[in-house]
Amino acid sequence: MAKMPLRDLPAWSGLAAKRRGLPAAQALRSMFAADPGRGDRLVAEACGLYFDYSKQLLDDDTLRLLVELAEQVDLRRRIEAMFRGDRINSTEDRAVLHVALRSAPGDSFEVDGRDVTAGVEEVLGRMAVFSERIRDGRWLGHGGKRIRTVVNIGIGGSDLGPVMAYEALRSYATHDLDFRFVSNVDGTDFSEAVAGLEPTTTLFVVSSKTFTTQETMTNARSAREWLLAACGGDASAVARHFVAVSTNAMEVAAFGIDPANMFGFWDWVGGRYSMDSAIGLSTMLAIGPERFRELLGGFRAMDRHFLTAPLERNLPALHGLITVWNTSLCGCETMAVLPYEQYLKRFPAYLQQLSMESNGKRVQIDGTLVECPTGPVVWGEPGTNGQHSFYQLIHQGTHRIPCDFLGAAQSLNPLGRHQAMLLANMLAQSEALAFGKTAEEVAAEGTPARLVPHREFPGDIPSSTILYDRLTPAILGSLVALYEHSVFTQGVVWNINSFDQWGVELGKVLAGRILPELESPASPDLHHDSSTNALIRRIRSARHLP
Ligand code: F6P
Repeated sequence: MAKMPLRDLPAWSGLAAKRRGLPAAQALRSMFAADPGRGDRLVAEACGLYFDYSKQLLDDDTLRLLVELAEQVDLRRRIEAMFRGDRINSTEDRAVLHVALRSAPGDSFEVDGRDVTAGVEEVLGRMAVFSERIRDGRWLGHGGKRIRTVVNIGIGGSDLGPVMAYEALRSYATHDLDFRFVSNVDGTDFSEAVAGLEPTTTLFVVSSKTFTTQETMTNARSAREWLLAACGGDASAVARHFVAVSTNAMEVAAFGIDPANMFGFWDWVGGRYSMDSAIGLSTMLAIGPERFRELLGGFRAMDRHFLTAPLERNLPALHGLITVWNTSLCGCETMAVLPYEQYLKRFPAYLQQLSMESNGKRVQIDGTLVECPTGPVVWGEPGTNGQHSFYQLIHQGTHRIPCDFLGAAQSLNPLGRHQAMLLANMLAQSEALAFGKTAEEVAAEGTPARLVPHREFPGDIPSSTILYDRLTPAILGSLVALYEHSVFTQGVVWNINSFDQWGVELGKVLAGRILPELESPASPDLHHDSSTNALIRRIRSARHLP
């Protein structure tokens, strides 16, 4: 069935009219004044997450239209298609079934008519056995010593999920192991990560869906050389110090990693949706199999909520629809994710890939141009640090930047008044962004007239607040699944394929051409543009090449 253009959907025109009708200033002040119950009503709660979107620039009518929009683009049917294992990643002809990775006993998820949950369980079981052997010291390195450091080598989804989850769940991690993460092909990343490490007590987890990614394979080869140099070149050491996480058994074997040391996953798991697959091996090594199950449970709870909750109370659907409202109708080009939780310090970086690699698209599923701006630029840093850096621009700059504030009522590290101060700052920021400070209010404080414009805050910067009691593995799972499904919801409205990433290909191909031009001992014939040619010559000259 041909898809109806967004502009022809009644809900879309209704939303465009709502946008035009927004007051030029003081909109949130008026909305809160006219509706004192707004802050209690424009909230939704599920899986331990309290989602307050009352400080978004919308009213009940906008919300109703957003839900109607979701119905008119058939969000429900598209969710069901994903959960059913349909090949919704149409450009790669793949199912998109990360929800199967967190299935419960008795659940069934099928790809091509075959239930995949037994395979998921089998891998989880092998990961658990392996993790316990490393954690309790039964797995010995070459030379008979127990493993003390785990180094995950991967990039993109094979790095950002593991490092984000490790940082997020550090307080649940064993103290018997140290964890490091290497991703960049810049040799500094590897060198600094292994600085001071003892090779015979180090385990490398080489994580790569394809096992062909240049950065990861280069780092993995350097790791092997580093190990072998310490083991007198004895290649049998590799089996004790390298495990692989991949979908590509052939490449894993070709690299020299024993297939018995490989933990597999499947082409229906996208890289940026893979942190709860075997790509989470480093996470399981850190927090143990039971906590890892709790993490999966949190994902699953949000999956079920997304699948079953009415759209007007459905956290991921609401979050996704609000992002569409801000991005496509209100002209906001970026969104900030601001965790007031030090453990979530890598969460914005994780969300950058999840959102921008998924929805950074300019064509619809059928190849025609999109009808409106799509995926926002996602960025952020933990509060309160950001307050002393870029918040100035959010408060008084010329861009309107919607913000997501994330915070826990209780700290995992209670320390005097720290948590109350942290939360006071989080709440104060969302309040200041929403309501600002008028010129009259500034003047009434006795501010000299010439300073009034400098001290005025326009307000009307939309934000949502996601609050939870304390950061647990289950809460982290629910939080990640909330954003995964929000990104999916946005993609459905924009009618784009959120599961491919062709945009990363061109640069890879060009780098492959340039590499020999940088390395060749003889002066190469350069046929790039004049800028690239000059840069290549300059680099060669600085590296003492002709
Ligand atoms: O950046 C492109 C990409 O394919 C990501 O989607 C993926 O997460 C990353 O590279 C790493 O890929 P792999 O896990 O195959 O090494």
